[in-house]
Amino acid sequence: MIQTLAPAQSPVSKLKSRPASGPPRTGQPLYAELAGSLQSLIEQGTLRPGHRVPSVRLMARQRTVSIATVLQAYTVLENRGYLEARPQSGYYVRARPPCFCPEPRMARPMAKPSYVGVNDLTAEVMDLSVDANYIPFGAACPHHSLFPTKKLARLLGSVARRDHTILGRYSMNWAFEPLAREIARRYLQAGCPLPHDELVITVGCSEAINLSLRAVTKPGDTVAIETPAYFGFLETIQSLGLRALEIPTEPREGMSVPALREALAQNDVKAVMLMPAFHNPLGCLMSDDKKRRLYDVLCEFDLPAIEDDVYGDIHFGDVRPKPLKAWDHDGRVLLCSSFGKTLAPGFRVGWVAPGRYRERVRRLKFTNSLGTPAILQKTLAEFLRDGGYDHHLRTIRRAYHQQLHLFTQSMARHFPEGTRLSRPQGGNVVWVEFPVRIDTLKLHRDARKHRINTAPGALFSVKDRYRHCLRMSCGIPWSDEIDAALKILGDLAKAQLA
Ligand SMILES: Cc1ncc(COP(=O)(O)O)c(C=O)c1O
Repeated sequence: MIQTLAPAQSPVSKLKSRPASGPPRTGQPLYAELAGSLQSLIEQGTLRPGHRVPSVRLMARQRTVSIATVLQAYTVLENRGYLEARPQSGYYVRARPPCFCPEPRMARPMAKPSYVGVNDLTAEVMDLSVDANYIPFGAACPHHSLFPTKKLARLLGSVARRDHTILGRYSMNWAFEPLAREIARRYLQAGCPLPHDELVITVGCSEAINLSLRAVTKPGDTVAIETPAYFGFLETIQSLGLRALEIPTEPREGMSVPALREALAQNDVKAVMLMPAFHNPLGCLMSDDKKRRLYDVLCEFDLPAIEDDVYGDIHFGDVRPKPLKAWDHDGRVLLCSSFGKTLAPGFRVGWVAPGRYRERVRRLKFTNSLGTPAILQKTLAEFLRDGGYDHHLRTIRRAYHQQLHLFTQSMARHFPEGTRLSRPQGGNVVWVEFPVRIDTLKLHRDARKHRINTAPGALFSVKDRYRHCLRMSCGIPWSDEIDAALKILGDLAKAQLA
C-alpha cells in the first residue's frame, strides 16, 4: 500500500494553472460544481439508490454546459462511489451509502495553569503554508480565488488616484470613521449593537487579540482558553509571558460552562479567551443560551472575555450567529475580528470593540503600530458600502460549505477505520481524531515528503494532548488532486497501524 506512494510532483501545480479569478460562482471548475450539487442531491435523499440520473446529453442541455463537463462530473461521482455506469443504460445512484465517521470526544480538564512552550513546529507549518509547492492543509488560509481580488485591486487604485496624499500621511486615528460605521452597521444587523467609535481598527485579528490580552493581563497571569485551542492564541499567550488554563470544549457546542465555572472557582484566572462562532480547530458553534450562561459566569467572577469572531460571517445555517458581545451590558467583552477569512487576507485589516477597555487598547495600538494604513481602510469602507459584500459573503459561504462537505466525505473514505471527524457548522477547518496509535507528528513528517503540509494536534494544546489529532484546512477549492492528497494522508496513517 505505502510502497505505491511515489513522493509527489506537487498537485498544487495543477491548481496554479487555473485562472487567478476562478470561475464565476463557487471558484470551482464547472464539472466540480455539477458533481457537488448532484452529490448533495444524493446525500439529501432526493436522488435515491437505484435512481437513474439524467442522461449526459439531457444534463448538458439542462445545465447549459458541454457534454465533456457532464461526463467528467459523472466520472468524478463514479470514482467517489456515488454513481455507477451501466452499459447501454446510463448512470445510476449506487446502493452503498457514503462512509460515515463519528464525532471527536471532549478532552478532560487540565489540573493547573501552565506556561506555553515555544513550538518550532508552528513556524514550520506556517512557512510551508505559504510555499506554493505544498498542498496547504496546514494553515486555515482560504485560497485567493475565493476573494474578489480584482475588484479590490481596482478600488485600491481608484482610491489612491482620487487622493494620492493619503499615502503621504500617517493614519494615527483609531479608525477610519466610514469603515468603523460600516462594521458597526453589520453588527447591528447581527443583533449586536455597538457604537462605531468603540472600534479600534487593527492589523488583522491577530493584533486585535494581542492588544486585548495586553489590556486585561500582565505577565504571569492566567488566561482560560478552549481545548483544543487555535495555535495563534497559544503563541500570543507564550509571547506575553502568560499562563494558559485549558477548559474542555464540546465538539459541537464550544467551551463547557460548568467546567469553566469550576476552573474559575479553583484558579486565579484573569481573563477568558474563546471563539463561540465556528471555533478553530473544532468548527463548533455555541448556542445563544450557552452564551448567556457563560456571560453570567463572567459576571459572577467579574472577568473580561476576549472573543474571536473571525469566522462569524462564515455560517452554513441561515442566520449569522450573535457574538457573545451582544449580551455584554457592562463592557467586559473585547470583540475581535478581521476581513482575513471573508474578504482580503492580504489587507491585514481587523478590529476590536474593547468595551470598557477602550482607552487602554487605544494606547496599546499607538505603541504597537501607530495606526492601520488609511488607504486600506478607505478601500474596504467603499467595498462594504457598495461593492456587493453581502453577495460575496453568500458565495463564499456556499463555497466553504461545499468544500468542507467534499473534504469530509473524502477523509471518511480514505482515513483509517476508527477516525472521528468534527462537524463544522461554519468556517473552514475540520478536526480529525485518529485512532490513538497514530502519531500525527510522524504523519506530518511523512506527508512533507509528498509535499503535503498538515497541522498536527500537538500544536493545539499546552499539554501533549492531541498527538493522534490533526486539523485540516479546507480552504482550497476541491479538485481530484486534493482527493488524491487526502488518500495519500490516509494511506500514510494506515501504514502506522500496520
Ligand atoms: C481563529 C483565528 N483567529 C485569528 C486569526 C488571525 O486573523 P488575521 O489574519 O486577521 O490576523 C486566525 C487566522 O488563521 C484564526 O484562525
